[in-house]
Formats: sequence, structure tokens, C-alpha cells
Amino acid sequence: MLKYISNRGGVAPVDFETAILDGFAADGGLYVPQVLPSVSAEQLQQWKDLTYLELAFEILSLFIDRSIVSADELKELLTSAYAPFEKQGIIPLQQLKSRKDTYIMELFHGPTISFKDIGLAFLVNLVNFFLQRKGQHLSLIVATTGDTGPATAYFSAGKSNIDAWVLYPKEMITPEQERQMTSLQHANIHPFAVSNCPDGGDDLDAVISKLYDNQDFKEKLQLSSVNSINWGRVMMQTVHYFYAYLQVTDQVGEKINLSVPSGGFGNLCAGALAREMGLPIKNLLAANNKNACLQRIFSTGTFSKEALINTESSAIDILIPFNFWRYLYFKVNGDSQKIKDWMDEFKASGTLQFDPQVFACYSQGFLASSVTDEQTLALINEIYSEEGYLLDPHAAVGLGASDILTDQLGDEKLVVLATAHPAKFPETIRRALNSAELPPEATHHSIESAKKLSQKVHLCEYQVLESALIHAMQSNWELTKGL
Ligand SMILES: Cc1ncc(COP(=O)(O)O)c(C=O)c1O
Repeated sequence: MLKYISNRGGVAPVDFETAILDGFAADGGLYVPQVLPSVSAEQLQQWKDLTYLELAFEILSLFIDRSIVSADELKELLTSAYAPFEKQGIIPLQQLKSRKDTYIMELFHGPTISFKDIGLAFLVNLVNFFLQRKGQHLSLIVATTGDTGPATAYFSAGKSNIDAWVLYPKEMITPEQERQMTSLQHANIHPFAVSNCPDGGDDLDAVISKLYDNQDFKEKLQLSSVNSINWGRVMMQTVHYFYAYLQVTDQVGEKINLSVPSGGFGNLCAGALAREMGLPIKNLLAANNKNACLQRIFSTGTFSKEALINTESSAIDILIPFNFWRYLYFKVNGDSQKIKDWMDEFKASGTLQFDPQVFACYSQGFLASSVTDEQTLALINEIYSEEGYLLDPHAAVGLGASDILTDQLGDEKLVVLATAHPAKFPETIRRALNSAELPPEATHHSIESAKKLSQKVHLCEYQVLESALIHAMQSNWELTKGL
């Protein structure tokens, strides 16, 4: 049976169900499969005409033991997870007319219109399935820069085995994203708007880590997370890399490039693992905005935390790409002691310089770039004027990075991951198009309906967040348990 271990090496191997329900490993590490499954060219060939759901079934079956989730259960979990998606193909790809061999992979056709729906639709369904089977309850806690929160809230809403605590940095996300979280009236959804977070979502992650360290509290409240620290998110996200590859290539074996607007490296980690499994990817492009941690990691070998810059692509205003440690674990052949030492050094000093050998090893097949707000706005304008296709600011960062790196890319086809719908960022679209009026492509019916609903939210100052959360979670727990 495929077991899961912590990339810091401090916990005994666990089964898939435990890794998913734990979220974080108890030693502060990230769960990884003990062995990464490999996919052969023959398998890819056989998968060429599969639908997204059929492909997801095949890939997930490599990671999930049948004794834990049977084939029928997995099919049913996938079908019900993606039922609320608005497009039949789940992830349509659009070829740009004004660029050669360039495809936009639209990952925003789920109910909360960002790519977070792709991972969370399945993961929350799976968590709920395990909890119902065990007769247990979990308190899920996530920090969000505007997209994980709405998706977690949407998929958790009304599920009686789950309470979802969703923390967001007030004024650092758009009002549209905020409404997606606060307009759900279900008693098990608890949005927290947190003021004065100098480091935005990263500050909220730090408080969540502290709650995890509080063993008594963690156990009593059955604390877990579906942020991309949870292996289930990364696993599910590997599927769209395989799907993109099979959709755009003429024959198996051909290589492609993919550009990914990135913050926490969850999505890119999935792409990197798909390549490790055997998917023929030439370059993965880490597309950063001015918060350029990944650009530093992949161009100079420096992992460092700098001050947060607020940008037009606010969902990737993220300082620490936590999932990088998960990817690195595989690049150093599972040397968890090294990972532990590096993580500890970075935590203590806020900076880390990898030696040239390690840098050469992990950066192979990666390119990185940092895109300015001016470039982001200009590109949204250019693509809309030239071909009537509206990019959201994150997809624009993805395309912008490929423009900057064009000389290093070669002739391979390029897939840019469009991670959110433009309707989530109307002010940026107005600035980009120099127009007070929004085009129809910048609106979405779900956002319009959310505007008509009343809002429910806890307001909180960052300085007191930890105690406020402990108090609110404890009271809710007592209330729901009838204590
Ligand atoms: C729209 C959007 N694009 C990209 C990202 C970056 O994804 P990741 O944190 O997995 O790198 C996020 C979230 O963090 C997002 O919300």
C-alpha cells in the first residue's frame, strides 16, 4: 500500500486517509507519497482521449489505495465534486490568435470562479466522505489571499461534519472575493476579516501554524486544513497538467511549456511532480508579480522573505512559497534531514542560500520571472483589444512572464494557466481597459447574485487574532456539541 511520510522525516508513515485528514504532518512537515508513481508513454497514449473526469480517475488511482477508496467510490466522489462546474469539459483551453501556439487553460469554471475550485471541490468532498465514514468532525482552517477562502466555504457549506474557518486580510482582497465568503449563511462557515496584517495572507498562515502547535487545542477541536499544505490539493492539481498536455499535443512525447501565476507554489509543485512522474514538460515558468520570492529561488538560489508589495494580481501577493519544500524533497532524493535543516534555517533567519549543486538540480526545467503591474495592465489591454479575450490579472502575469522569457522558451507549445475569472477583479480590469464601464466578459452571474445577499463576518485585529480564534472556535465547538 502506498504510504505517506512527512518531508521533514519526523513521523511514521501513514495511510492516505490519515495524510488527508491531518493536513499538516505532526512534525510541521508536508505529507508526500513515499514513492512517486511513474506514468509511461504508453499510459499517456491510452489516456489521450479521456475526459477530464476519466483522466482524474486514472491519476488519482495511482495515489489512493483501493482499500481506502474503492473504484466506485472514487468515481462517485469525482462526479459529485465537479457537478457544480459550469462547463462540461471542466477545464476548456482557448488558443490565442495573436500569439503562436499559445493556449490559455481556463481553470475558473467552478462555482467560485478560480482554480482553487479544481482542488477543493474534490478534497472537501473526500474529507467529508472520510469523516462520515468515521463518524468524526473536523474544524478546517484556511488562510486566503482571496480564492482559497471562497472555494473552501462553498464546498464546505452545509456539511455537518465540517466547520470551516476562513481567514482573510481585510482590504487586501477584492470586495467581490470578500462577498463570496461572507454571503454564505450556513452556520458551519465562519469568515474572519483580519485588519492590519503587514504581510497579508502569510501573517494568517503564521497564526494557523501556532494553533497547530497548540497540541491540546488541535486535538480537542480536531483541527485540520485544506490549504495547499494538504497533499490532497497538490495531488488533485497534478491532473490539470496531464489534461493540458493531452489536449494540446499532437503526439505523446512532444514537449510543452507551461506558465503558472504563482504564490505559494502549490499549483507549480503539482506541475513539477507531474513532470517527475513522466509528463514531458520542457519548462515550467514560475510567474511572479513584484512579490518575487520564486523568481529569486529559481534565478539566484536564494530563498528569502521580503516586505509585501500590494499589486494588481493580489491573489499572488504571497511571500513564502511553502510548497517549494515539498518539491525540493523529491529533488534531493528524499533526504528529509536536509529539508528539515533548510526549513529550520529559513524559519530562524528569513533567508537561505542554496549551494550551487542543489540550485542546479532543483532549477533544471524551471524559468522564472517577475511581472510589474504596468506590464500586467498593458497585457490585459493588448489581448482584449487585439482579440476580444479578457485575461484576469493573474493569467496576465502568466502570459507576461512568458513574454519576458520568450528567448529562452523555444518553439514548443505554451500553456498559460488562467487561475481566476476577471469578474473577481473589476477595478483592475477598469484600469487596464481605461474605461469606467466593464465589458460583459468582466462580469459573472455568481458575483452579481452574491451582491444581493446579506453578509456575515467576524471582524478582528491581527494582533489579537490567535486569542479571538481560540475563543470563537471553542465556543462554536461547545455550542455544536451541546455542552
Ligand atoms: C488566482 C490565483 N492565481 C494563482 C495563485 C497561486 O497559487 P499557488 O499559491 O498554488 O502558487 C492563487 C493563490 O494563491 C490564486 O488565487
